[in-house]
Amino acid sequence: MQTIRALNPLRQACAHFRAGAGPGAKLALVPTMGALHDGHLTLVRRARELAEVVAVSIFVNPKQFGPNEDLDAYPRQMERDSAALVAEGVDLLWAPDVAAMYPDGFATNISVEGVSDGLCGAARPGHFDGVATVVCKLFNQVAPDIALFGEKDWQQLAVIRRMARDLDLTAPHADDIIGVPTVREADGLARSSRNAYLSAEQRAAAAVLPAAMRRAIEAMLGGANTSAALAELREALLSGGFASVDYAELRDAGSIAPLDAPNGQARLFVAARIGGTRLIDNMPVA
Ligand code: PAF
Repeated sequence: MQTIRALNPLRQACAHFRAGAGPGAKLALVPTMGALHDGHLTLVRRARELAEVVAVSIFVNPKQFGPNEDLDAYPRQMERDSAALVAEGVDLLWAPDVAAMYPDGFATNISVEGVSDGLCGAARPGHFDGVATVVCKLFNQVAPDIALFGEKDWQQLAVIRRMARDLDLTAPHADDIIGVPTVREADGLARSSRNAYLSAEQRAAAAVLPAAMRRAIEAMLGGANTSAALAELREALLSGGFASVDYAELRDAGSIAPLDAPNGQARLFVAARIGGTRLIDNMPVA
């Protein structure tokens, strides 16, 4: 695996790997902020299945952290991540520092309206601007044929697809932005780097989140009133050990617009705090 930290060598390496893979070969990009876990490695394995050349980026993006979010505390473990990517047969690791990504004078912000509203967009103002801006840059830097993102961050995926569509991006085209289903633990909890912050007791209680979501989905599909099903879901989380519920909402999977009832492409979105840890999850209501 070649690790690259500056833009010109990156472009040369992408061209070199493409040429080596032969005509028609595809290059896949898996953007990450590092602290890799099985969820990320699932994206890398899927990228390997879909493309001849696999690039992973690791960049802890300051623009997507709010003033009250601790950017400095975000886990950085480059050596461990690098070893994991070598073991997965990744060809290229793009690991720019902040000065390479945002040189002095950098002044552009990409803001995607509509899909960024509500849910994590409300809880983390400016977060999706930071995500859209850095992902647009990563796409322009690597120019992949396809890019892969986890469906656990469904709203993020919707923002990135909307941005690619609206800006007529071609590398990758919006249709080649691939969502990979959430990897879950045996008890249903979605894998996340944040699970590591849970105590044993909190980790056991956290399983109430996917279970309560499934019950709410069954109720809504069975014709229950949406607000009542969501209120019951909130109550199940609070009585099951969660300290607070940021949101529990039914939304359209594509536009992320709020829904009063399942419409065939609805998703249930939840963010809730257990101890000091904020967990998010989403599931189809179909
Ligand atoms: O999901 C993430 O890890 C980040 O938001 C991303 C897409 C790599 C952009 O920094």
